[in-house]
Amino acid sequence: MSQNIFDNEAFFENYKSIRNKPESYNNLIEQPAMKSLLPDLNGKIILDMGCGFGCNCMEFIQMGAVKVIGIDISQNMINAAKNMNDNKNIEYKKLNMEHINELNLQFDFIYSSLAMHYIADFASLLKKIFDILNDDGILLFSQEHPLVTAPLKGPSWNTDEHGKKVSSPVSDYLENGERNVKWLSETRQYYHRSFSAIINALTENKFTILQITEPAPMPEILNAAPQMYDEIHRPTAIIIKAQKLLKE
Ligand SMILES: C[S@@+](CC[C@H](N)C(=O)[O-])C[C@H]1O[C@@H](n2cnc3c(N)ncnc32)[C@H](O)[C@@H]1O
Repeated sequence: MSQNIFDNEAFFENYKSIRNKPESYNNLIEQPAMKSLLPDLNGKIILDMGCGFGCNCMEFIQMGAVKVIGIDISQNMINAAKNMNDNKNIEYKKLNMEHINELNLQFDFIYSSLAMHYIADFASLLKKIFDILNDDGILLFSQEHPLVTAPLKGPSWNTDEHGKKVSSPVSDYLENGERNVKWLSETRQYYHRSFSAIINALTENKFTILQITEPAPMPEILNAAPQMYDEIHRPTAIIIKAQKLLKE
C-alpha cells in the first residue's frame, strides 16, 4: 500500500512552500531537463502520474495536447490542481498510479515527475504503463537518483572545514527496497532501486530506452543559485525517456 504523505497537512504546507519557490531544484534543474525531452504533444492524449499541482498538465494543453488526465494519490494535490490549473481538456482524478489500468483509456504519452520512487512494485507499474500506451507511445519520467535513494538512513553530505559540501557518502546501494527517511519533519517512505534494477525493469517490460539524463546545473543557473553546484557531486534526479516500440 503506497504512502500518501502529501495529505499530511504539515508536510503538504512545507512541501508547497519549497516547491513554489522560483529557485527550487525542480524549477531550476529538473523541470528544464524534463521539458527538453518532451516529444511533440500536438493532438496527443496524455497521462501525468503524480501530477501534484497540475502545472505540467496545463503546459501540455498549451503545447497542443487534446486531453490530459492528471492523477495523484493525494486529495490535497488534486484540490490544488483543480484550483490552480483548471482547463476543460484536463481531468484531475485522485488515483494511485498502481491502478492506472482502471482508467480504461489509452495514451500517446505518459509522464511522471519525481513520483515513481514512491512505488514498491516498479515492474508491475511498468507493465500497466506499457498496456495503456498506444504503439510508439512515449514514457518520460524522473525519479530520485539511485545515489540519493540508496542510504538506509537517508542521503547526507561530507563537508570541508568551512562547511562546504564536498562529497556525498553512498551506502546500501545494492540493497534494493523500502526506505523510511525523515524529511520536512515527517518520515517519508520511498523505494530504492539501483541503476541496473531500473534499466532492467524497463527492458524486461519491453520498453526501448531512448535517453537517460542526469540533469546538471547550467552555468547561468550557477551564477544565480550557486548552491546548485552541489548537483555536480551527486545528481538529485535521474530522467528516463522510453518508448513502446513494437518490433517488426
Ligand atoms: C514530489 S511530488 C511531484 C509533483 C509534481 N509531479 C511536480 O513535479 O511538481 C510527488 C507527487 O506524487 C504523488 N504520489 C506519490 N505516490 C503516488 C502514487 N502511488 N500514485 C499517484 N501519485 C502519487 C504525491 O502525492 C505528490 O503529489
